Amino acid sequence: MSLPITGATVVAAVIGRPVRHSLSPLIHNAWLMAAGIDGAYVAFSPAEPRLAAFVDGLRGGGVVKGLNVTVPFKEQALALADDASARARRAGAANLLLFREDGRVLADNTDGAGLLGAFAAQAPRWRAADAPVTVLGAGGAARGAAAALLDAGAPEVRLINRSVGRAEALAAALDGPVRAFAWRDAAKAMAGAGALVNATTLGLAGGEPLRLELDPLPGSAVVMDMVYRPLPTPLLERARDRGHLIVDGLEMLIRQAAPSFEAFFDQAPPASVDVRALALAALETVP
Ligand SMILES: NC(=O)c1ccc[n+]([C@@H]2O[C@H](COP(=O)([O-])OP(=O)(O)OC[C@H]3O[C@@H](n4cnc5c(N)ncnc54)[C@H](OP(=O)(O)O)[C@@H]3O)[C@@H](O)[C@H]2O)c1
Repeated sequence: MSLPITGATVVAAVIGRPVRHSLSPLIHNAWLMAAGIDGAYVAFSPAEPRLAAFVDGLRGGGVVKGLNVTVPFKEQALALADDASARARRAGAANLLLFREDGRVLADNTDGAGLLGAFAAQAPRWRAADAPVTVLGAGGAARGAAAALLDAGAPEVRLINRSVGRAEALAAALDGPVRAFAWRDAAKAMAGAGALVNATTLGLAGGEPLRLELDPLPGSAVVMDMVYRPLPTPLLERARDRGHLIVDGLEMLIRQAAPSFEAFFDQAPPASVDVRALALAALETVP
């Protein structure tokens, strides 16, 4: 069931390639329905070389109010914007583009807020400032996570990445205590950590498994996995079996969606609908 589309319907969208399995339309449309807002949230998959023209065509906001941006467009989206929030610049990527009436395109990034929001919801006693945080990966998600963790007061962020040079470059680009490690030095990078965050694609259903010995991680460390297909991921299952508190990527997805919704539709998402339950049901249907 959906609200009728009218001449005044406010449209927002997610763009990505591929995008058809995105949970964002489900989440935003459930919020729209529950709030009774005359809005619609759809998904677009522009051809990669056409992204600049696509974004340009949306200037003014007369077509869509704004876009969420996912893989592989986040870095390009930042570059295409006329102005960007400090957190988007620091993350080096945008997951949100807003089309102002004056024709300007504004970039923002709510992924870091989503990550910290997920920790606050599922590991409320964890504090970034208490101990170093170990992040697996050095791609866009890792960069956003590292920036948000530093801004939240993490005393050190330790990046473990297959291409160590990429992690070193990221450590140099981020202004703060960030160190790069190779996978063979993972034990060193996990010693004394207060949290472990998987920001690689490893563990994604149908993809390569994440092979990481968790023994070196302190029992008090929280384990977070940005991957949410399947849920829980094998990493989160192993961590839970070892007694770690776990934080999942679906919670991050929902928490990053909330400020986007507010930016598109000028009000906070309604609390009356359980979008997590809806998303979990959808994940069961489409693995
Ligand atoms: N839950 C959420 O809300 C949320 C938000 C953002 C992202 N994510 C998820 O986070 C993950 C990473 O996204 P991204 O945008 O950062 O992707 P990305 O820029 O493509 O980076 C991928 C990362 O995974 C590593 N990797 C890939 N295959 C590997 C392998 N076989 N062995 C070791 N390392 C490997 C890469 O290492 P190299 O540098 O060595 O290639 C790189 O660090 C994705 O699964 C994405 O869906 C979730």
